[in-house]
Amino acid sequence: MAEKFKVTPWEVRGNIDYDKLIKDFGVEKLDDPLLKRIEKHTGKLHHFLRRKIFFAHRDMKFILDEYEKGNPFFLYTGRAPSGHVHIGHLVPWMFTKWLQDKFGVELYFQFPDEEKFLFKQNLEWDKAQEYLHENMLDVAAVGFDPKKTHFIVDSVHAGLMYKEAMKVAKRITFSTTKAAFGFGNETNIGGIFYTAMQAVPAFLPCILKKKKMPCLIPHAIDQDPHFRVSRDVIPKIGFYKPASIQCRFLPGLGGMQQDGKMSSSAEETTIYAIDDEKTVRKKIMKHAFSGGKDTVEEHRKHGGNPDIDVSYQWLTFFEEDDGRLRNIYEDYTSGKMLSGELKQILADKLNGMLRKHRESREKAKVEDFMLSEAKFK
Ligand code: TRP
Repeated sequence: MAEKFKVTPWEVRGNIDYDKLIKDFGVEKLDDPLLKRIEKHTGKLHHFLRRKIFFAHRDMKFILDEYEKGNPFFLYTGRAPSGHVHIGHLVPWMFTKWLQDKFGVELYFQFPDEEKFLFKQNLEWDKAQEYLHENMLDVAAVGFDPKKTHFIVDSVHAGLMYKEAMKVAKRITFSTTKAAFGFGNETNIGGIFYTAMQAVPAFLPCILKKKKMPCLIPHAIDQDPHFRVSRDVIPKIGFYKPASIQCRFLPGLGGMQQDGKMSSSAEETTIYAIDDEKTVRKKIMKHAFSGGKDTVEEHRKHGGNPDIDVSYQWLTFFEEDDGRLRNIYEDYTSGKMLSGELKQILADKLNGMLRKHRESREKAKVEDFMLSEAKFK
């Protein structure tokens, strides 16, 4: 039975019905003809596209039309510091890196260091700044091309951002933010204004480069309300409507029914990018919701259910090899593979991925990525 679920930029809960979200939000499904068209430019599609983990979009056709006419887009995505980065956060960033590599385009990565400060009662400014610096290392560690990637930090780049945010804010009423975000009279005025700041990187590069360029925003579906609002405003100030491409959430270890989205504050059911190998294995063995049967005999006889099994679901995000994934699916459903074995496969996979992440994070230099106006002169 469909349970109640909720998806806003500030709260995600329940068992999420993505088809319903497509309708409610008014985004379009990423269909096969569109995927084929992307494949023409990228070669073999990223497994996030093959498996519909990125499942929806706005104006992707426009992005491809312009690209094919020789008018390339730039990428824009972001991260509001409020805690440690977890493996769910890495999903859109890994995909953004793939897009950057395949299309050879620039990326503008926003760190709105005021956002979570404004929306989280207990987050102090200085703490958010600590997370900012930590989080920037995690983003750099994803492997973006430093020559083509620019970090925008709202409080650092305020001189550039504020003027542009005003142009956006002037065209958004309180009543629009009420409808889009559920704000009310109790919402603090910083929070009401914030969406204007998130709109700016979707056109700031055009100002820096004095050139009208299309913008593509890869993001998790919960951020769509921001862009639904800014897509109406940005053309009014002389730029293209930003296009977007949306992914679903990586569920927490407790399972899709319990937590449709991994949450930084639920430590036991979250794997952080900086968790060591023992911690990763322990969390998975202990907390990963299993689709296996209660006893080995029953499991051997009837097999497990990968559709509700978090370890299997996570492998659909992180095991790139379709053949290997198919074998795991078959072995698990037939009962040949036990739940504990499936968990070990997942732990090995994640530990391999996170080992690389940690190594790359050690070497990362945030300065190499910071947006500097001088570079555009
Ligand atoms: N609001 C996002 C968060 O909570 C951060 C963000 C800023 C963002 N700009 C973005 C996310 C653009 C996706 C795309 O983390």
